[in-house]
Amino acid sequence: MKEGTAALVTATRAVMRVAHDHHSADDAPQAGAAARAIALGTLRWYLRLAPAIGQLLTRPAAGMAPAVHALLVTAAHQVVYSRNAPEGVVDAAVDATRALDAPRASGFVNAVLRRFVREHGALFAKLDADPAVRHAHPRWLVDALRKEAPGRLEDILAGGNERAPMTLRVDLSRTSVAAAQAACAARGIASRPLAGFDAALVLDSPAAALDLPGFAEGLLSVQDAGAQRAAALLAPRGGMRVLDACAAPGGKTGHLLEIAGGDIDLLAVDSDADRLERVAGNLDRLQRRARLACLDLRDAGALAGEAPFDRILIDAPCSATGVIRRHPDIKLLRRPADIPAFARVQGAILATCFAHLAPGGRLLYATCSVLAAENGRVVERFLASTPTARLDGPPEQWWPGVGAPTDGFHYASLTKAPGT
Ligand SMILES: C[S@@+](CC[C@H](N)C(=O)[O-])C[C@H]1O[C@@H](n2cnc3c(N)ncnc32)[C@H](O)[C@@H]1O
Repeated sequence: MKEGTAALVTATRAVMRVAHDHHSADDAPQAGAAARAIALGTLRWYLRLAPAIGQLLTRPAAGMAPAVHALLVTAAHQVVYSRNAPEGVVDAAVDATRALDAPRASGFVNAVLRRFVREHGALFAKLDADPAVRHAHPRWLVDALRKEAPGRLEDILAGGNERAPMTLRVDLSRTSVAAAQAACAARGIASRPLAGFDAALVLDSPAAALDLPGFAEGLLSVQDAGAQRAAALLAPRGGMRVLDACAAPGGKTGHLLEIAGGDIDLLAVDSDADRLERVAGNLDRLQRRARLACLDLRDAGALAGEAPFDRILIDAPCSATGVIRRHPDIKLLRRPADIPAFARVQGAILATCFAHLAPGGRLLYATCSVLAAENGRVVERFLASTPTARLDGPPEQWWPGVGAPTDGFHYASLTKAPGT
């Protein structure tokens, strides 16, 4: 099999796993860089490409072998978004039918893709009138964003298709941003600080983490600048008892320990034992220590036996609609019904954790969702039923968008009335 065909076959399988089998792209078997780039690009534009391919089919795509449909969409991505010659892409797709156990579809694939090469300009001219197709986002999400952020809709949708920058967090207790930038430059890795984010360094182009000077020793971590707001807003100090309630894989756990500037007693909790192991691995690299516990925090009794905490971070499980530019599969995997389901879990975790907040203590409720149903409305409902809780001030909302310095994040800071 030619190299181009092999990459197309691997990418097609990855696209099928997400679009047809509803698996996260992160769970995909390891693929080479070329196949991975094709798969991610196809997932990014799937909701624009699939309707265009659909216009060329005489029968509904649902009746077609999933591998053949995924191949058509993946090859269509190559035609529109790569520099490869369209004829070469069609030939590779025809070859790929054999490896995908669909050799009898080769004539059909050839005919559909040849028409797509000729007609895609006209097809998109018609379909792109709809912003959900133009920006390849699910319609339910476009409708929700139109309500949440009407003035920013186009910007957020277009930003969702950008490649996010690789941003580092510098451990300011061990080095400085200027020193880390100089060390990166010495290895030919260009970067720049980010105004308003004191520990952030944005790389001009992505690099392998292990090539970063000081990464193995924990001086640097890879973390979006928006995620770096969590530890800054919670501001734990030495001597405090801190709960990191949904901790895995431990990005924010490490930052909390770095920022505390002294000994804190930190309990990192997650309900997923495998993911909790990644927290342990990350803390080893950072040369930091915490207590780890695998607990389901929907259970009101999960923290029984723990003394009250001075600071609590809840980085709640959510739709992740703020990080679509990094994880384009989210556009295909999330369903509208997921949002109220997440909100129920978020409310339950909030109630369990707040019950273990010390009087006068601070709890930061965080998500990487941009939907009020998982943010403001969860917190409002909680405040309405909890007289001892109060909102510290307006929540901090980071919107994703074109050229946005951060992913989309929401932070609401709550305190418990003293003496309760
Ligand atoms: C947004 S991720 C946390 C990311 C992490 N804070 C970081 O910065 O690396 C949400 C986490 O919540 C965990 N989680 C989901 N449901 C939970 C529950 N009921 N109790 C505790 N943790 C839960 C998930 O396993 C997931 O690791």
